[in-house]
Amino acid sequence: MFGRKFLPQSSQRRLKKFIFLMILVTTLFVVMVTAGMYGLSLLDSSMSLVKADIVESKPRIAIPSDGDYRLESPLKSDFSRGQSKIIDDLLGSQKDGFFVELGAGDGETNSVSLFFERERNWGGVLVEANESKHRQAVGKRRKSLMWNFRLRMDEDMTTDTKDDIRLERLFQMINRTSIDLLAINLNGFESELIKQIDLAKYNIRVITVELQNTVSKERYMAITDYLTSRGYTVAHHLINTMLGKKDVVYTKL
Ligand SMILES: *[C@@H]1O[C@H](CO)[C@@H](O)[C@H](O)[C@H]1NC(C)=O
Ligand SMILES: *[C@@H]1O[C@H](CO)[C@@H](O)[C@H](O)[C@H]1NC(C)=O
Repeated sequence: MFGRKFLPQSSQRRLKKFIFLMILVTTLFVVMVTAGMYGLSLLDSSMSLVKADIVESKPRIAIPSDGDYRLESPLKSDFSRGQSKIIDDLLGSQKDGFFVELGAGDGETNSVSLFFERERNWGGVLVEANESKHRQAVGKRRKSLMWNFRLRMDEDMTTDTKDDIRLERLFQMINRTSIDLLAINLNGFESELIKQIDLAKYNIRVITVELQNTVSKERYMAITDYLTSRGYTVAHHLINTMLGKKDVVYTKL
């Protein structure tokens, strides 16, 4: 009896407008909720990637990635200032070796070890004190252990903290006595550090040390004399005046 036709024309138009608006609002709502959920699921999957790559423990340790590299310059071969190719020649393109890189940076920029990891199937350990750089190396999916510690140089330290580790403890964690390449890229402290390594216990075939090219002769000789007395010879000097670096490659082959 009180059907729509009894409503005045203007009310009918208003009702139609209202229904149309309701449909529009509902559609928009559904679209927004769906998009939001999709966004959240993306965020969630990227977060679980981070979780999978970084084993959060004390100290911070990341395990080798089994994904494809995510490098800034994937077409490069030698990422170092030339040391990698020189060491590769010295070692006769050796495969399946083992390296330790101290001061590994972001795992790509000036990396001595990346060439060996990518092209010679080596494994190893990257030690970097800067957490942000350590995370960058993890993001580049290096196929090595990545440890975020600062090395302690003071010999009277007997305990390690969350962030700091003594060299002796580091070598205990590496848990092997035969190392093909030790790359040292620390700013200063090289000679103190080298003298703390038990070179009678650990058989290290190649040691490459990054120095400033303004390094004093005394400092350079302190390292060189020490290593010479332990059976090493200077195989190469690389001087890069633009970067202000002098890299010295020592070998005991
Ligand atoms: C750590 O590295 C980042 C770049 O990745 C740099 O901005 C920052 O200054 C570094 N921190 C320290 C304490 O050197
Ligand atoms: C160290 O390596 C040896 C074999 O090379 C292994 O038997 C031992 O379990 C390792 N220790 C640790 C603490 O990983």
